[in-house]
Amino acid sequence: MAVNPSRGEWKIRANVFDPFTERTLFQLAGKGFFGDLESPVALGKEANVFSASAGRSSEGKEKIIVKIYRLENSNFKKMYEYLQQDPRYMHAKPAKRDVILSWCQREFRNLMLARESINVPTPIGYKNNVLVLSFIGDAINAIPAPQLKDSVPSNPEAFAQAVLERIAILWKHGLVHGDLSAFNILNDGDQPVFIDFSQSSPTTAPNAKELLRRDLTNLASYFKKHGVKLDVEKELERVVKGAKLTRR
Ligand SMILES: Nc1ncnc2c1ncn2[C@@H]1O[C@H](COP(=O)(O)OP(=O)(O)OP(=O)(O)O)[C@@H](O)[C@H]1O
Ligand SMILES: [Mg+2]
Repeated sequence: MAVNPSRGEWKIRANVFDPFTERTLFQLAGKGFFGDLESPVALGKEANVFSASAGRSSEGKEKIIVKIYRLENSNFKKMYEYLQQDPRYMHAKPAKRDVILSWCQREFRNLMLARESINVPTPIGYKNNVLVLSFIGDAINAIPAPQLKDSVPSNPEAFAQAVLERIAILWKHGLVHGDLSAFNILNDGDQPVFIDFSQSSPTTAPNAKELLRRDLTNLASYFKKHGVKLDVEKELERVVKGAKLTRR
C-alpha cells in the first residue's frame, strides 16, 4: 500500500505509524477496505483520523475514514477502567496494547449495533488499532461535516429534539453513547450524526445510567448557550422509561 504523504504531514504520521500500525494498515488495505491514506482529518485524544480513497470493497469516488488509535497512549488506564464496567470486556487484560486493541474492537462492535437503530458512520472493517468507517459529510470532496461545537444548527430547538430522540432510540436498542458532546456530534446539513462510539456501553452495564446522565448534562450545557433548556433528570427518566418525546 502506498501511504502518500500529502502536504508534508509527516509530523502527525510520525507518532502514528509504528511498524505494527503500518502492518495493520497494509493488511486492511490489502483486504480492500480502503485504497490510499490521503489527508489528516483530526488529531483526537486517543486517535488520529485520516481520509482515504475507497478500496475494492467499496469502489467509488467516496472517501473513507481511517481512525488509528495511537499505541503510545497516556489514557490507557482510564480506558481500562471503562472496559471493566462493560460486561463484554470485564475480563480484558490490563496490558496496554490489549486495552487499546479491545477499545478499537469495542468501537467497531458498538457501531455495528448502533447502526441498526440510528444513523452513524458505517463500520467497514477493523483490525488491531485501526478502524475503517464511512465518511460523514461531503465524501466526494473529502469535506467532513463540522462538529456541532463549530456549527450552530439553524434551529437549535429542533436539533436538540433530534439529538434526544436518537439517544432514546439508541437506549431502547440497548446502547448508551457515553461520550456525547458537541465534539462527538457532527452537524450534517442540520441533522445530528453521532460519532466516536468507543465509550459506548450496553444499557446493562452498571454505569450505564451514569453515562447517560453525563451525556445529557454535556448536551444541556451546550444547548443552554443556544437558548434551549434541557432538564437532565426529566430527559433521563424519559429515555430510561422509553417514553415518547413531548414538545416543551
Ligand atoms: N466518519 C467520520 N466522518 C467524518 N469525520 C469524522 C468521522 N469520524 C471522525 N471524524 C472527525 O474526526 C474527529 C475525531 O474523531 P473521533 O471523535 O472519532 O476521535 P477521537 O476524539 O480521537 O476519539 P477518541 O476519544 O475515541 O480518541 C471528529 O471530531 C470528526 O471531526
Ligand atoms: Mg471524539
